[in-house]
Amino acid sequence: MNTYGLLASLKLKSIHGTLPDKVHSIEQDSRKVKQNSLFICIRGFRSDGHAFYSEALKKGATIIVAEEKLAIDHTKHALVIVKDTAKALAILANKYYNYPSKNMTVFGVTGTNGKTTVTTLINQLLQKNNQQAALLGTNGMQLLNESLESNNTTCDVLTNQKLLHKAANLGIDHMVMEVSSHGLDQGRLRGIDFDVVTFTNLTQDHLDYHKTMEHYGNTKGLLFAQLGNNLTQEKNAILNRDDPWYEVYNCMTPYEVISYGIYKDADFRATNITYHVDRTSFTLLSPEGEFTVTTKLIGEFNVYNTIASIASVYARGVISVSDLVTSLSDMDCINGRMQKLEIDAPITIYIDYAHTPDAIEKAIASVYPFKQNRILFVVGTGGDRDESKRPFMAEKASVADYVVLTINDSRYEDTSSILRDMEKGMQHNNYVLIENRKSAIVHVIEESEPGDIIIIAGKGLEEYQIIEGKKQPHSDKKIAVEKCAIKYNLNV
Ligand SMILES: Nc1ncnc2c1ncn2[C@@H]1O[C@H](COP(=O)(O)OP(=O)(O)OP(=O)(O)O)[C@@H](O)[C@H]1O
Ligand SMILES: [Mg+2]
Repeated sequence: MNTYGLLASLKLKSIHGTLPDKVHSIEQDSRKVKQNSLFICIRGFRSDGHAFYSEALKKGATIIVAEEKLAIDHTKHALVIVKDTAKALAILANKYYNYPSKNMTVFGVTGTNGKTTVTTLINQLLQKNNQQAALLGTNGMQLLNESLESNNTTCDVLTNQKLLHKAANLGIDHMVMEVSSHGLDQGRLRGIDFDVVTFTNLTQDHLDYHKTMEHYGNTKGLLFAQLGNNLTQEKNAILNRDDPWYEVYNCMTPYEVISYGIYKDADFRATNITYHVDRTSFTLLSPEGEFTVTTKLIGEFNVYNTIASIASVYARGVISVSDLVTSLSDMDCINGRMQKLEIDAPITIYIDYAHTPDAIEKAIASVYPFKQNRILFVVGTGGDRDESKRPFMAEKASVADYVVLTINDSRYEDTSSILRDMEKGMQHNNYVLIENRKSAIVHVIEESEPGDIIIIAGKGLEEYQIIEGKKQPHSDKKIAVEKCAIKYNLNV
C-alpha cells in the first residue's frame, strides 16, 4: 500500500527520515516482520514493543511507528512518532485492510457468561438459513471449513482486521464475534463497524483486571456506545431485560433496543419452560407471534442464550422467527457447554465450562429439575487469575451434594493455595480437595451411584492443561468416559 496514503489519516505525527513509497505489511510482533513491513511499537502488559524495534529493523522493517525517539539511522529507515501507538495501529490496520467490516453484517456478543454459546448459535442459525457466516471467539475462527486457533476470546486489533479482510475476500458477509471486556478495554475492537450487539449478563469475573464491578460493567458498555450515533444505518442492541445492566446499556445507544428475557416483559420472552435431561422446551412470545421452541441445550441459562440468539438474527429482518425456531430444533448442544456424554451408564455426566460463580450456580440449577439421586460436582479454577472469585465459586458449588475442588490450569501458581482459597467458601463438609484434575474426575466417578448426575466443570472440551506455563495434553471427556467404562463395565 502507498505509504503516504496510509499515514495520511494520522494527524499528529512527526516523520524522521525518508519514507519508502510502499508498505508491504503492518506488524506489531517483531517476529512476524518481513521485508518492507511497517513495525508499530505497542506497549502491552507483559512487554513493550519499543524494546523490539532493532529486531524489526534487522528483519527488514522500513518504517517504525513509535511514541518516543529511537536510535534509528534515518538515512536507512524512517521513524514516525505518534502520541498513541495503540490508537494509531487501529487506524492504520483498518485503512490497510480497507475497512473490511464496513460491507459485512457484524454481530458482537458480550457479557460474563454465554458469549461462546450465543455466538455459536447465531452462526449456526445464519448458516442453516443459507447465509455466509463466520465465527470468531474463544474457540478460534471458524471460516468456511477452516478452523484457526486464537489465544484470546477477542484477538488483537491487527489480527481482527486481518481475519475480517480474509473473510471478506472469501465472500463471507456475516461475521459473528465474541467480545471480551479485556478486548474492549484494550481497544482491540476499534474500527469494527458492528451492526448487532448483544448483551448476555454481567456477574463477578475478572476483578483482578477491572478491580470493581462498575468498571467491568462500564467497559462492557463500550460495545453499545461504539455501535455509533449514525442513525442513517440500521443497527440494533439486543439486551437481557432481566439483568440490572439493561437500563445502563439501553442509555448508551441511540439505536433501537430489542429486549429478551424470562421474568420481565420483553420483546422476546420465554414462558412455560420445561426442563429435561437432554432438552428444554418453552413457549416463545415474539414480535411475530407465539412459537413452541425445543432445543437440545439444557437449563434456564440456555433459554436466555437461545432467545438472545434468535433476537439477534431477527434484528437483521431477513429470516423469520418461525424459520429460526425450526432451525434451532435440530441444532446440537454446544461443545463442552453442559454437554451430556453419550454413555450407556446408570449415571448422567455433563462436561461444562463454568468458571465463574454465576455459571456454577446456573450449571447446578440446570440439572435440579430432573435430579433423582445426588448431584456430584467437580470444579476447578485457574492459577494467576482473579483470586477473589474463588471462595464464591465454592460457595455456589455447595448447592451440589458432593463437591470435588480441583484445578483448571495452575499456570505458575501453587496449586494448594488455589484450593485453599476456594475451600474458604464451602458451605458444607461433603467435599474433597484433589489437586490433580485427572484424579479428581476418576474419584468422582468412583464415588458415583446409579441415578447420580455428575457435572465436570471448568474446562469444557479443552484438550490441555497449562501447568508451570506448559500445555500438557488433558481431556475431561476422555478421562470420564474411560473411568465410567471401568466402573460400570461398559463397552466403549
Ligand atoms: N447465559 C448464561 N448465564 C449464566 N451462565 C452461563 C450462561 N451461558 C453459559 N453459562 C455458563 O458459562 C459457561 C461458559 O459458557 P460460554 O463459553 O458460552 O461463556 P463465555 O462468555 O464465552 O465464556 P469466556 O469468557 O470464557 O469466553 C457454560 O459452560 C455455562 O456453565
Ligand atoms: Mg467464550
